[in-house]
Amino acid sequence: MSYILAPFCLINIIMAKIIYKDFEGTSRTIDVENGLSVMEGAIQNEIPGIDADCGGSMACATCHVYVDDAWLGKLPKAEEAEIDMIDMAFEPKKNSRLSCQVIVSDELDGLKVTTPEKQT
Ligand code: FES
Repeated sequence: MSYILAPFCLINIIMAKIIYKDFEGTSRTIDVENGLSVMEGAIQNEIPGIDADCGGSMACATCHVYVDDAWLGKLPKAEEAEIDMIDMAFEPKKNSRLSCQVIVSDELDGLKVTTPEKQT
């Protein structure tokens, strides 16, 4: 967890470290503000492989990621609409999620996600 004290105001921005990995194993650790989605953190930081063509409305699956097994049980369960969209993603697996539906919080500090090979 990281805190940023924004200049000229007294608002603390609470962030969690999210680790974005590509299929080749290159990883980038990014501080993402709590309340944003894992997809929004990726877009703001130009993480390759997460395009988010629909802007987070569960209509494209271009934000598809594989969640590290150690984190699977810590995420809220995917809703039916998310599961349906994951079925249309490239190479869905049991640990697939749409990163636009995973909201960053203190509890997800250290979350690791990997982008599928076809999304590079
Ligand atoms: S951004 Fe389109 S489904 Fe997540």
